[in-house]
Amino acid sequence: ALVTTTEMFKKAYEGGYAIGAFNVNNMEIVQAITEAAGELKSPVILQVSAGARKYANATYLRKLVEAAVIENPDIPIALHLDHGADFDICKSCVDGGFTSVMIDASKYPFQENIEITKKVVEYAHAHGVVVEAELGKLAGIEDDVKVSAEDSSYTQPEEVEEFVDKTGVDSLAIAIGTSHGAFKFKPGTKPQLRFDILHEIEKKIPGFPIVLHGASSVPQEYVKIINENGGALKDAIGVPEDQLREAARSAVCKINIDSDLRLGLTAGIREVMNAHPDYFDPRQYLTVARQNVKDVVAHKIQDVLGSAGKA
Ligand code: G3H
Ligand code: 13P
Ligand code: NA
Ligand code: ZN
Repeated sequence: ALVTTTEMFKKAYEGGYAIGAFNVNNMEIVQAITEAAGELKSPVILQVSAGARKYANATYLRKLVEAAVIENPDIPIALHLDHGADFDICKSCVDGGFTSVMIDASKYPFQENIEITKKVVEYAHAHGVVVEAELGKLAGIEDDVKVSAEDSSYTQPEEVEEFVDKTGVDSLAIAIGTSHGAFKFKPGTKPQLRFDILHEIEKKIPGFPIVLHGASSVPQEYVKIINENGGALKDAIGVPEDQLREAARSAVCKINIDSDLRLGLTAGIREVMNAHPDYFDPRQYLTVARQNVKDVVAHKIQDVLGSAGKA
């Protein structure tokens, strides 16, 4: 059934694992994620960005997700707005059947972030919907807002308690060194998330679910397939999976993954198209592409997040 993340996060926090939040924008991606989660008896979060809504249209996305719920009756599925930029898009998603929304006012000063988040929380809670907010800035491209590496700033642990208390928010996204996209770290440097900051945050708000954005690991086998079949992804680097496992064992209850799905999908399409220049039926290459996405999600659930069997 379509559910909120309340129960999922409570169990994940206590059980020392995390729920995967995967971005969706078409039928194949929705199918791949929910089939993998269904087979592994894992709760799962399907998340939709403003860009995805623009691409696929809100009605199509909602109906695709409703179909996935019908096809996978045994697992809890949450429908979440990813990086809501303002009250209006959050309201539109609450009104449109989402069970969770993110208000991302992290680019605003602290007090303004509190005010905007609070307003969304009041509306969402009145309609039975939960809210994620963000403190701190991720490096890289966050929706329309470009945050350069120098501007990116880690979440300040001194701020989290006041923020959570004053907003009434249900979960908090933090910045500890991840970024969006497939180019997260400079080549030659050692990728290292700031677990010291995460642990300070945990101590300030014990029991409170933390969210990790920008958590793709950028599977090098898919980067290789893409590059061997006409692609040009140079120095694509993600978060090492060991660090994601460590995060999943902590207060982090939601781990956001989009880029890895895109890489699997693109690798499948490029590989098939390159091997079969005569193919022009989308089902021929999308079948392989969809299977890659399913493989990525199954691997994450089983080997990284620890959410298999927790439905
Ligand atoms: O936060 C970024 C997600 O990967 C969604 O990306 O805004 O291009 O749909 P998008
Ligand atoms: P990635 O680009 O690392 O997959 O991050 C996705 C994300 O944080 C969506 O909100
Ligand atoms: Na956890
Ligand atoms: Zn994000």
